[in-house]
Amino acid sequence: MARPKVLISQKIFEEAVAMVKRDFEVEENRGAAPLPPNILAQRLKDKVGAIVLLTDKIDEDVVSQCPDLRIVSNVAVGYNNIDVAACSRRKIMVTNTPGVLDDTTADFTWTLLLATARRVVDADQYLRSSRWKGWGLMDFLGYDVHHKVLGICGLGRIGQCVARRARGFEMEILYTDVFRAPSSIEKDLGARFVDKETLLKNSDFVTLHVPLLPETTHYISMVELSLMKPTSILINASRGPVVDEKALVQALKEGRIAAAGLDVYENEPEIEPELIGMKNVVLAPHMASASRETRLRMATMAAENLVAGLSGKRPPNLVNPEVL
Ligand code: GLV
Repeated sequence: MARPKVLISQKIFEEAVAMVKRDFEVEENRGAAPLPPNILAQRLKDKVGAIVLLTDKIDEDVVSQCPDLRIVSNVAVGYNNIDVAACSRRKIMVTNTPGVLDDTTADFTWTLLLATARRVVDADQYLRSSRWKGWGLMDFLGYDVHHKVLGICGLGRIGQCVARRARGFEMEILYTDVFRAPSSIEKDLGARFVDKETLLKNSDFVTLHVPLLPETTHYISMVELSLMKPTSILINASRGPVVDEKALVQALKEGRIAAAGLDVYENEPEIEPELIGMKNVVLAPHMASASRETRLRMATMAAENLVAGLSGKRPPNLVNPEVL
């Protein structure tokens, strides 16, 4: 009997592919780039399931062309690339990979924070271009991190991991969120709940860990940037559209904030061109979860979700339980 067909939309780890191949016929896009939307839709037409990455847009148009599709398994915790409502209307399950990347993403948030505060990238480029002529008292002056105020926007799983690391730097931790965390968590992290404005006005470092939703689009725009201290640093390892990138460029140019460390951009892979030339900005190509261990775990978790969903079980990380 022909086995049900599954699409793996981009290159993932062989271990994860093998898990799916045990029960399903797998079609893989082994190319390095995402498939163009029309080709993606074309290749999904006869599939019952798909493992996709966050660069694959699964919208109404795509799912309306796939009558047999029962599950879309995203290899990411964020699933703003998928129109969940459109999937739910067609009883298509959507899954993600929460939990496994929290520590790795928090580690990278700190990498960005420290690299930006202490000007590591600028200094590295200086040295590599043979301009270093010796130690200078006034050279590469950055900002201290220890004993400063860290403002965390979004105290979810990743935000909490970021907070935990801040304690080693003996920082004061402020956080804001739509809901206040239980007092046991606040106590454990030493984090104080404040409103957004208080956080922006008082933090030396503002780090963003909110999901991308209509309500969090441009969560940081000119109004917010203007509230921040001129010596403050903005870190974004959540989703690009959470920050109004044009406003950020403007704020950096006007010295409204001191610097920024970014892993994500509004229109990836496009970047506001002026950011490229700024020395007080550290730019990473959306890589916060990119450790070997974590990316492998994300891929196998996506495979587990897909296999469970297609075997009549509830996928462990179902984001739209209303379809069951
Ligand atoms: C990465 O950005 C993710 O959402 O997993």
